[in-house]
Amino acid sequence: MAKELPKLKTRITELLGIEHPIIQGGMAWVADHNLVVPVSEAGGLGVIGAGSMTPSQLVGEIMAVRAGTSKPFAVNVPMTRPDAAKLIRICLEQDVKIVFTSAGNPAVFTPQLKEKGVTVIHVVSSVRHALKAERAGVDAVVAEGWEAGGHVSREETCTLTLVPQVVDALQIPVIAAGGIADARGFVAALALGAEAVQIGTRFAATVEANCSIYYKNAIVRAEDAATVVVTRSLQPTRVIRNAFAEQLLRAEQRGVQEPQLRDMLGEGRSRLGIVDGDLSEGLLEAGQSAGLVKALRTVELIFEEFLNGYREVLKRLEGLQQRR
Ligand SMILES: Cc1cc2nc3c(=O)[nH]c(=O)nc-3n(C[C@H](O)[C@H](O)[C@H](O)COP(=O)(O)O)c2cc1C
Repeated sequence: MAKELPKLKTRITELLGIEHPIIQGGMAWVADHNLVVPVSEAGGLGVIGAGSMTPSQLVGEIMAVRAGTSKPFAVNVPMTRPDAAKLIRICLEQDVKIVFTSAGNPAVFTPQLKEKGVTVIHVVSSVRHALKAERAGVDAVVAEGWEAGGHVSREETCTLTLVPQVVDALQIPVIAAGGIADARGFVAALALGAEAVQIGTRFAATVEANCSIYYKNAIVRAEDAATVVVTRSLQPTRVIRNAFAEQLLRAEQRGVQEPQLRDMLGEGRSRLGIVDGDLSEGLLEAGQSAGLVKALRTVELIFEEFLNGYREVLKRLEGLQQRR
C-alpha cells in the first residue's frame, strides 16, 4: 500500500522520523500497544496513553510496542497524574525517544527530558499556553480545539480558529487536533498551517483498539450533536451524551458544587464506559468528530482513506479555479 500513497514532508515528519504527518492521540483507556503498533507500522506516530496505566503497565506497554514495531512511537503523560514524575522517569529509563506531555505546566518536565535528548511535544489549547510551551523549550505543540474528545479546555476555542493563531504566534511546528476524522479535516488542518494532525476518536473506533466494542459502536452510531461537555467546574470533558452524562448536566444546572459532583462521579467512570462498555453509567469520552465516523475501520484503511483522500480533496479544490 505504502508505495501508492502520497508522501507529505513537513517539519513534524522530519522531527519524528515518520512517513506520514498523522499522529494517533495518546488516549487513556484506548491507546495501548494494540493500537500504537499498527499506527506506527502504517507510517504514522503511535502514542501510548499512559494516563490510565500503572507504572508497571507502562513498562509492559513500551516493551510490547517494541516487540511489535521498530518504527518511532511516543508516550503521552498527562500531568494531572499525581505520579506523573514517576511515569516520566520510566520513559527516561526505557529510553523512550518522544514524549507528549499534556494538562500541566510544560516547564516542569521539559528540561530533564531535553537534557536526555528526548523530543518533547506539549498539548495546548490557547495561544498563551502555546507560547509558554515554546519558552519552556518543547520541540512542537499540539493545538487542540474544543471539539476534541476527552478533557477539553476552559477557553472553548475551536480548532479552526485556534490552529492558525498558534501557528502565527510560534516558531516551532504545530500539530492540529480536535474534530479531524477524514481527509477533508486533514487537508483543512494543513491549510491552517499545521504540520501534522493528532487524531483521537477516529482511531478509537478501529478494529485494533483494545476498548469495548459497545463503546466503539457508540462512536459509529453518534450523530453530529451526540457529544456534550460535562464536569465543567472540575475538568471539562467531552463525552457522548448518555444517561450518566444527562445526570451530571442536570446536577451542574442545579448548581451542584465540587465535592458532591466528585461523589457523583466516583472512581473509574471512563473505564466503565470505554473498557467495560457500560453505555448508560459509564463516561464515553469522544469528540464531535464521532459524527463523521460511520464504520469501524482498520488502522491501515484509515491511512489509505486519509492519504488518497488528500489527493482527491486537492483535485476538487483545483477544479474550483476558473481558467480563462
Ligand atoms: C477516549 C479518549 C481519551 C483521551 N485521553 C487523553 C489523554 O490521556 N491524554 C491526552 O493528552 N489526550 C487525551 N485525549 C485526546 C486525544 O489525544 C486527541 O487529542 C483528541 O481526541 C483529538 O480530538 P478528536 O477526538 O476529535 O480526534 C483523549 C481522547 C479520547 C477520545
